[in-house]
Amino acid sequence: MSSKDLKMFRVIVLLSFLVIRASSLNNHSFPNNFMFGVATASYQIEGGWDADGKGENMWDWWTHTFPEKISNRYSGDVTCDSYHLWRDDVEMLKHLGVNHYRLSISWSRVLPEGTTNYVNQKGVEYYRNLFQALLDNGITPLVTIYHWDLPQPFNELGGWMNPLIVDYLGDYARVCFQLFGDLVKNWITINEPQTTCLQGYTQGYKAPGYANEGEGIYLCAYTHVLAHARAYHIYDEEFRALQNGTISIVLDSSWSEPASDSDKDLEAAETQMEFILGLYANPIYNGNWPRVVIDRVGTRSLLEGYSKSRLPEFTQEQIDYVKGTYDFFALNTYATNLIYHQIDVNQSIGKASYFLDSGTGSKTDPSWKTVVGWVNDVPWGFRKLLNWVSEHYKRPDIFITENGWSDYTGELNDQDRIEYIGNYLSAILDAIYEDGINILGYTVWTLMDNFEWQVGYSQKMGLYYVDFDSPNRTRTPKASAEWFAGVIRGRCLLDQCEN
Ligand code: BGC
Repeated sequence: MSSKDLKMFRVIVLLSFLVIRASSLNNHSFPNNFMFGVATASYQIEGGWDADGKGENMWDWWTHTFPEKISNRYSGDVTCDSYHLWRDDVEMLKHLGVNHYRLSISWSRVLPEGTTNYVNQKGVEYYRNLFQALLDNGITPLVTIYHWDLPQPFNELGGWMNPLIVDYLGDYARVCFQLFGDLVKNWITINEPQTTCLQGYTQGYKAPGYANEGEGIYLCAYTHVLAHARAYHIYDEEFRALQNGTISIVLDSSWSEPASDSDKDLEAAETQMEFILGLYANPIYNGNWPRVVIDRVGTRSLLEGYSKSRLPEFTQEQIDYVKGTYDFFALNTYATNLIYHQIDVNQSIGKASYFLDSGTGSKTDPSWKTVVGWVNDVPWGFRKLLNWVSEHYKRPDIFITENGWSDYTGELNDQDRIEYIGNYLSAILDAIYEDGINILGYTVWTLMDNFEWQVGYSQKMGLYYVDFDSPNRTRTPKASAEWFAGVIRGRCLLDQCEN
């Protein structure tokens, strides 16, 4: 950027503060212990896909074997090259002034074959150096053990359709606690099983590409929930007393707003919440699958001619083992949808399908602001989601572990992102001060533009722009980076706030 451009950019940043100031944001300060941070994930930023002994994972295999499945046939082979440029990332985090950094460990970098028989010291060093640098700068690492990059040998066993993964994930989690638990005190077992199970095992447009609408999501959910519980218990029983940390799972959900106030649509919206979020949250927070999911899938399976439900049954022992495996509720969210009743439980029997099981349809309101479609700026929906989570899961502490805005251009003057994040942070303040919900922190997805799974580099969500054509993957702060740094400094969305 020339110095003239830079001056212009600064003026724009200043203007963005004024715009935000003029809007109707909540004027409370964020509580003193409220944590601000940003998130990334190993496959999306690290690159170094086969560097220093790293093994192959499911996304390496998927992007290399089926390049046509990714926009412009891109992969995460190099992406932001954080495996080599992690010091730059730490500088950016310091510039933002974040309290925490949510990142994930690449399973195959630490255990190249996935199993614990061989530990890759280079991979261990990489993460230890990074965690230490974060701590040296007063940044708390919030570490996801598994963010979608399953070692390829396990994918060949059927991946998340195979309950054996429960043992393997547990063993890997134990290695993480042993190797990094002196530095890391805040753990996430697994990221967003809902997205994996829906897009990877039901619709098949993410790795590993299974389009199994009848069983995929339920087998996948079953294995994820049990694997999470295994990792939680290992931490709880073998490490917690010594390491004194916390551990939970990240679940994702959009808000399901009834499309009308008819009884059928009201019921459909509630059912939809249980099929999206409850499928994973209910076993962990309340015990067992949600009743409505058990009933609907069971009824339809029998009508379809199955001898039992397509939803695997938990034994009582499993129900007890999974229930209560959380220290807080980690929530990712990006959007609101309008949900309506589509079919009754006994209608359209023929094709076994998760979508028919819920019997709901989904649309959005064309007046809601969006660029890419799947993210929309509907902060009141976010507030309703927070309340729904709070009411359904025994008022847990909630940590927002991802939220952010997506565009196609990666523009530096990203006013839409500032507006979106400002609105969602304001909804958090409403939830804290008006609804009495305890919210521990907020995490922007994402630190910098990166490999956005099946859409490659075509959608940009970073506070920093990354020049993917430059050999050193030059990172440039967008207006939102400066704005977010200001919010963190002032702990307030406006010029001045009430305490
Ligand atoms: C995932 C991220 C992803 C983001 C935006 C979340 O579903 O955890 O890996 O990049 O949303 O799509």
